[in-house]
Amino acid sequence: MPDVHILGIESSCDETAAAVVRSGERVLSNVVFSQIATHQPFGGVVPELASREHLRAIVPVVRKALADADQTYNSLDALAVTQGPGLAGALLVGISYAKALAFALDKPLIPVNHLEGHIHAVLLEERQKGNHQLNFPVLALVVSGGHTHLYLAEQQGDSWSYQNIGHTRDDAAGEAFDKVAKLLGLGYPGGPVIDRLSPHGDPAAIKFVTSQIKHPDRNARGGVAGEFPRFDFSYSGIKTAALRYVEAHAMKPGVQRRQQVLASMVTPTLDDYLAVCDRETLNLVASFQRAVVNDLVGKTLAAARAYAVATVFVTGGVAANHELRRRFEHDGAHEGLPVHFPSRPLSTDNAAMIAAAAYPKWLSGSFAEMSFSAEAGLPLR
Ligand code: KG4
Ligand code: ZN
Repeated sequence: MPDVHILGIESSCDETAAAVVRSGERVLSNVVFSQIATHQPFGGVVPELASREHLRAIVPVVRKALADADQTYNSLDALAVTQGPGLAGALLVGISYAKALAFALDKPLIPVNHLEGHIHAVLLEERQKGNHQLNFPVLALVVSGGHTHLYLAEQQGDSWSYQNIGHTRDDAAGEAFDKVAKLLGLGYPGGPVIDRLSPHGDPAAIKFVTSQIKHPDRNARGGVAGEFPRFDFSYSGIKTAALRYVEAHAMKPGVQRRQQVLASMVTPTLDDYLAVCDRETLNLVASFQRAVVNDLVGKTLAAARAYAVATVFVTGGVAANHELRRRFEHDGAHEGLPVHFPSRPLSTDNAAMIAAAAYPKWLSGSFAEMSFSAEAGLPLR
């Protein structure tokens, strides 16, 4: 089988990314331009600004991805681009650019679901490590700023299919990390800061509980009740509980002071954060993270038992979290279940995962009609 070089392009949220991956198993380049600095003053992603920044970054990012990979436009075999889910305006920048490039180069264009990309980030790196033997069924937890999903993944030849057996009913786990960090004046994005601060607080100090969902989800597809048990998540309750705690313990003045000090720094270090956090704040951060990790690990492993899966994948931005990884590795090993993660750079949004997910589609000739467009709510099936 000759080598196949696919250029992936990703612009679904606040990262403009391009990468070249060879035959779905070797990352030749992986360029990510993060817009965090643009959105930071607003405490979250501003969709209009995201589109504008993608427009500015896309050409240099793609050029750098080709140069880093020692490739040219002509040496590529195909292009792949994120079709959704994501911000419609942001997706359109990547899609329009990819369409124009594919048309001009007369190369096939492959649309990819962003969530499938996150799952293939794990597969790509396992193959890169030489692990070609994967035991099915696979259960994938995709957990990021916009998503908290559990999928059963199946492979038949070059075709992959996915069944959703759990999703969040309200906020995504990463969104809860971001909102709690904002509430405490710790800046945006919140996940990495809470991750670094948690070991300095007492995770047992505050008893946060995450919602256990009993009522069926009317929006969920699938069989007779009980035939496909669901493992849904909910994180808006814990976010509100954190807010109540801050109010009840008169922490607001401290939050404001912290916000002001951190806003004057370009990239605060861990010591800078620790200098502006009192014990109460560190305990809250650690207790919040412990509760979310308990919930993610507990529900995923319960789903793994219910569906008798052989392998678990954990992927998406929140998969970069140290405590989450340690707990999955420990508890997975306890149940004799291998748990695979992408490396940290491939956990958060990137285009290598898009190029990797496109490779089986290239093999089966699943190319796009030029009429396809962005789908902000694209489901994964
Ligand atoms: O996958 P991603 O880059 O973008 C989406 O598709 O949403 O994920 C970004 C999310 C943000 O909510 C961010 O706070 C969270 O992932 N995140 C983390 C960590 N690194 C990023 N959450 C917890 N711990 C981390 N180390
Ligand atoms: Zn993502």
